[in-house]
Amino acid sequence: NNYWVIVPAAGSGKRMGADKPKQYLPLNGKSLIAHTLENVRQWPGVKGVVVAIAVDDTEFKTLHCAQDPRIHTVTGGAERADSVLAALNYLSERQPAQTPVLVHDAARPLVNTDDIQKLLAASPIALLAQPASDTVKQSRECEDKSIVQQTLPRAQIWLAQTPQKAPLGLLREVLQKGLQENPAAITDEASALELAGHSPELVAACRSNFKVTHPADLILAEALINYRAS
Ligand code: CTP
Ligand code: MG
Repeated sequence: NNYWVIVPAAGSGKRMGADKPKQYLPLNGKSLIAHTLENVRQWPGVKGVVVAIAVDDTEFKTLHCAQDPRIHTVTGGAERADSVLAALNYLSERQPAQTPVLVHDAARPLVNTDDIQKLLAASPIALLAQPASDTVKQSRECEDKSIVQQTLPRAQIWLAQTPQKAPLGLLREVLQKGLQENPAAITDEASALELAGHSPELVAACRSNFKVTHPADLILAEALINYRAS
């Protein structure tokens, strides 16, 4: 294994509604992004990490892990996909096109190393995902209400997580193309790969790999971090 990791961390955390981007909120005395990067740094076989940070970010360089020579930074963009593409552009000038890349959200501090191992052992194009546990309804709008259009067969529904894995050159090409042709449809790496005709493998992952998005997620993440440390 000789793969690189891209960590998009240039978002503003609107849904969290805090006074700073959620990646810099403290969890047990350390920022969310520090937890994520310390986790990423011990994944087996990781060669380097490119973190995409916001253009006005002044906090990243104050982190202890920012001193790690394996951690590089680039300036992110307006949407998550723009931030990932900036990191892919940086990496493609330095690494061969076939280098495996794992893209992992800064906001997922709790991914299990076992699940990383499973992802590394899966097809070259693959992602962690969670099989849906609730029944899933597709809706349509009807006189200012949402009503059920249909119930989707739950056995086929997965919720995409990260990391998402693909070769560097291919991922850069499909993301560039997807952003030109249908930016609204590109909400993760897999969606860009699918638009280009690929079929990423779904690797079932642990529920603890949720994305810290809303205020209650901070409480849950903190509890799980304490539990793992105990
Ligand atoms: N991200 C990024 N660049 C952006 C937007 C998001 O690098 N322009 C990153 C976030 O920092 C986060 C990951 O992508 O680590 C997943 O995005 P999300 O959870 O949506 O974070 P935010 O966009 O910051 O949150 P919100 O959508 O609530 O504003
Ligand atoms: Mg967002």
